[in-house]
Amino acid sequence: MDLPPLAIFGASGFIGRHLAEYFSHHAEEVWGSYCHGAPPKRGQSFHYDLLASDPEEFFDRRKNIQVAVLCAGITNVERCKNNLALSTAVNGAGLKRLVQELAKRRIRPVFLSSDCVFDGKKAEYREIDRPGPTTVYGRQKVEVEEFIKERSEKYLIVRLSKIFGTELSDGSLFTSWLEKAAKKEKIFSARDQFIQPTWAGDLARSIHGLLKNDLGGVYHLASAEFSSRLALAQKFFAHLDLDPSLIVDCSIHDFNLAETRAEKIRLCSDKFHEETGCRFRSTDECFEEILEKTRRRQELFR
Ligand SMILES: NC(=O)c1ccc[n+]([C@@H]2O[C@H](COP(=O)([O-])OP(=O)(O)OC[C@H]3O[C@@H](n4cnc5c(N)ncnc54)[C@H](OP(=O)(O)O)[C@@H]3O)[C@@H](O)[C@H]2O)c1
Repeated sequence: MDLPPLAIFGASGFIGRHLAEYFSHHAEEVWGSYCHGAPPKRGQSFHYDLLASDPEEFFDRRKNIQVAVLCAGITNVERCKNNLALSTAVNGAGLKRLVQELAKRRIRPVFLSSDCVFDGKKAEYREIDRPGPTTVYGRQKVEVEEFIKERSEKYLIVRLSKIFGTELSDGSLFTSWLEKAAKKEKIFSARDQFIQPTWAGDLARSIHGLLKNDLGGVYHLASAEFSSRLALAQKFFAHLDLDPSLIVDCSIHDFNLAETRAEKIRLCSDKFHEETGCRFRSTDECFEEILEKTRRRQELFR
């Protein structure tokens, strides 16, 4: 165990679940929060509502916690815009109240931010580039980033693109395509929306590497692969020999979204790679793992 006791706020969510599982092997203690969902299976769970819970009370009872990973919040970009009052209270005021308490206790925050802090006008973004969000969700991320920078002595802000898993039925990008394909459902894939698909296991290892090496500041953590959703769907379907006619070539503008989204936001993760020596897995390796798990499941049911 090379990490001190830590708390994960939002451990019942997709990324939080992965982090709780991973850190249960690397941290002296892991506390994981849930709010409306089921408690996380790994670590010791606690209920925490960013709208209502008192962070002072939580940390008074767990004085040994030294790191707080902040995954909690409303993460759907459309929902942030369409429920502005709620998302401002949760992603803004609620997170700031928590950050304030962390600063008071000198607990290091690890904030999961997003590529949505940028507007996509530049070809590639480094950590030193000025944010310019085009969505409410992106503006809320920038606000919390700034708040953390002003108050915390030592912090980590990691900006992410699209995080995916390789566990069947984990509800992430590729595995949900697989489930849809099995049910012969169409997969609408925008030719003009670009992402950097990054494996959740790499994200956990990366945060571990940053904490272990006592690094602080802002880091971009996104794989070097930069593809349209359409190209990714075609690649995934070919790798798993799925029916390509289920892929529907469409545009991001066909979805009638409440806000204009940047089509291409590319994060440069060179700073992270240079400082830690860590590398990310390719989608090919991850597709192979998903394929292998699919074969094993088919054998099990044969
Ligand atoms: N997934 C990605 O590709 C991606 C990309 C860029 C950035 N990020 C950032 O990474 C973080 C984690 O993302 P995710 O994909 O794991 O999100 P997620 O699956 O939507 O999980 C969100 C978490 O927030 C909790 N939560 C929601 N409302 C809450 C409230 N009022 N009080 C306390 N907790 C609340 C949820 O708990 P319950 O479910 O129990 O209510 C859940 O644990 C987020 O900050 C997100 O913006 C994710």
